Amino acid sequence: MIVAIDGPAGAGKSSIARKVAQELKFDFLDTGALYRAVTLATIRAQVDFDDTPALVRVAREVDLQWDGDTILLNGDDVSSEIRSPTVTDAIRYLADEPLIRQQLSAQQQRIAAGRDIVTEGRDQGAEVFPDAECKFFLTASPEERAKRRVEQLKSEGRHMSFEQVLAAQNKRDREDESRPVGRLRAAEDAIVLNTDGMTPEEVLAWVLQRVREVM
Ligand code: C5P
Repeated sequence: MIVAIDGPAGAGKSSIARKVAQELKFDFLDTGALYRAVTLATIRAQVDFDDTPALVRVAREVDLQWDGDTILLNGDDVSSEIRSPTVTDAIRYLADEPLIRQQLSAQQQRIAAGRDIVTEGRDQGAEVFPDAECKFFLTASPEERAKRRVEQLKSEGRHMSFEQVLAAQNKRDREDESRPVGRLRAAEDAIVLNTDGMTPEEVLAWVLQRVREVM
């Protein structure tokens, strides 16, 4: 069974997807981590982001392994390094490239084959797993998402102003919504939930209830 959870940056889908997987004893796939790791590989290879054939070549040659928690790039655990702002700022050069998306989508389908899995990203329900049994699109207002992000950064001892976070998030939303292939969108058969004003526990309970209805 496949549970696909999509939505914009900061909607809380990653932590919800992870918890849903834990509760149901399903595997978990963070597809953003794959995009991030391939981006890190091109940074390490010092590829010029305008050199699309070189980006595609590096992406084709890397060995990515996802074990449900950590991500290995050519055998190296890069789970923390892929979260750096340098990687986040550069992802679009790869995520916009249809050949790279095709390759990562095929890898996501291989990872999910024959498993019960909760998969999380931007294009999971609409493109990568159109036959997923359960599809969710979690969203929240830009202000609410930015507010949550500022709190999360604060808890990690990092400080960014609300305005800075909101501006960066708006830029990412525009990029994620406008790419020609694999753009951020809700599948037609996805259940859309606006999580404004909901606690993470309430969102988790709501999602779990709906998954259990189709199990
Ligand atoms: O989810 P996360 O913030 O880690 O994703 C990082 C970026 O990777 C997104 O902003 C998006 O550009 C890209 N991405 C994507 N398709 C996915 C998952 C992530 O294009 N399925």
